[in-house]
Amino acid sequence: PRVVVLFGGRSGEHGISVATAGGVLGAIDRDRYDVVPVGITQDGQWVVADDDAGRWAITDGKVPEVPAAPGEVVLPLRAGSRDVRVIEAGRVPSVLGEVDVVFPLLHGPYGEDGTVQGLLELADVRYVGSGVLASAVGMDKHFMKMVFAGHGLPIGRYTVIRPGEWDARREEVLSEVAALGLPLFVKPARAGSSLGVSRVDSLDAMDAAVRAAVEHDPKVMVEAGLEGREIECAVLGGRAGARPRASLPGEIAVTAGDHDFYDFEAKYLAEADVELSCPANLPDHVIKEIQEVAIRAFEAVGAEGLARVDVFVGADERVVVNEINTMPGFTPFSMYPRMWAASGIPYPELIDELIQLALE
Ligand code: DAL
Ligand code: MG
Repeated sequence: PRVVVLFGGRSGEHGISVATAGGVLGAIDRDRYDVVPVGITQDGQWVVADDDAGRWAITDGKVPEVPAAPGEVVLPLRAGSRDVRVIEAGRVPSVLGEVDVVFPLLHGPYGEDGTVQGLLELADVRYVGSGVLASAVGMDKHFMKMVFAGHGLPIGRYTVIRPGEWDARREEVLSEVAALGLPLFVKPARAGSSLGVSRVDSLDAMDAAVRAAVEHDPKVMVEAGLEGREIECAVLGGRAGARPRASLPGEIAVTAGDHDFYDFEAKYLAEADVELSCPANLPDHVIKEIQEVAIRAFEAVGAEGLARVDVFVGADERVVVNEINTMPGFTPFSMYPRMWAASGIPYPELIDELIQLALE
C-alpha cells in the first residue's frame, strides 16, 4: 500500500510532529509500504518532503522544521480516484499517485483536532487514528472533560475562562478560581506538549499565566493541581470491532533541573531531567484499574486507532484522568511506543498495526 506520512503543520507542536515523522520514516517497513513523506510548513504549505529520517530529529536543543519549497504545493484532492495531486510551479497539476492511507502525524491544532481528518474525509482517503469528532474533543480540554464527566470517569476540578472574560470580569473569575485551591495549572484549552501551560502557586501569578495561555488559545482552562504519581497508558484500537487494547502503564518523574512540572523543556529538550519508567512500578490491581480507565476514556471520546491517556494515581490508589491525546508523541523514544514495546509490540510492528487498522 501507498502511505502518505504527513507531518509538521501550523501548530506550536510543528517541530515535535516533524521529530515524530522522523521516527516513523526510519522504522516503517519499506518492503511492505510505498512511503510518500509530505510536510506542512508552519504557514500551511503542503510540500513533498525529504525521505530522510535523520534529518528530522531534535538536535542540539533545536526542534526540526519543514522548510518551505517555493513553487511546489501538494494538496490531497479527490480527482476521480483517491489521488494526491502535485501542483508544480506554474500550477500544472501532476499526479503523485493513488494513496491508500494517510498517517497524519500532526500534533496540536490544525492536525490533531479534526481539521485534517475532515479534509481527508472529504477527499475519501483513509487515515490512521481518530476521526473528526474524537480528534476535536480530544484537542479541546474543556469539551474533553465534559465528555469524560458525562461518562462517569474520575476527573479533577477545573474552571474555564472564556475568550475575553479575563479582562471583562476578572474579579468574578478570580473568586471561581480561588475556590479550586492551590496549586493551579493554567493551560490553553487547545494546545499540547505543555505549550502555554503555567503552574500557579499564588493568585498573584494568575494574570501572567492567563496571558501565556492566551498566546495559544483565547479559551483558557484552570485546573486544580492533581496529587499523585503521573502515569500514562497507551491505547490501541481493537481489530474488527473488538474492544481497544491498553498497554502496561508508564510513569513520568521530573527528577532534576528547574521545572515546575513536566513542561516542554523537560519533555523534549532536557530529557536527562526526566525519568520515564516503563512499565511503571505499580501493584497489579492498580495497573488493571488504569488500563480500564484508559479504555473507557478512549471509548468516551470515540477515539480510533491510537491514543495516550494520562492519569494521576493518588497515594490512596485513586486514578484520576488528566487527558487523552489522540496523536501522542510517536518517536521511538516517546512514551506511547515505549509502553507498547514494554507490552510486546515493537515500534515497527506498532506502525504496521496502526496502518492495518486504518485499512480495515
Ligand atoms: N502532545 C504531545 C505530542 C503528546 O501528547 O505526546
Ligand atoms: Mg499530558
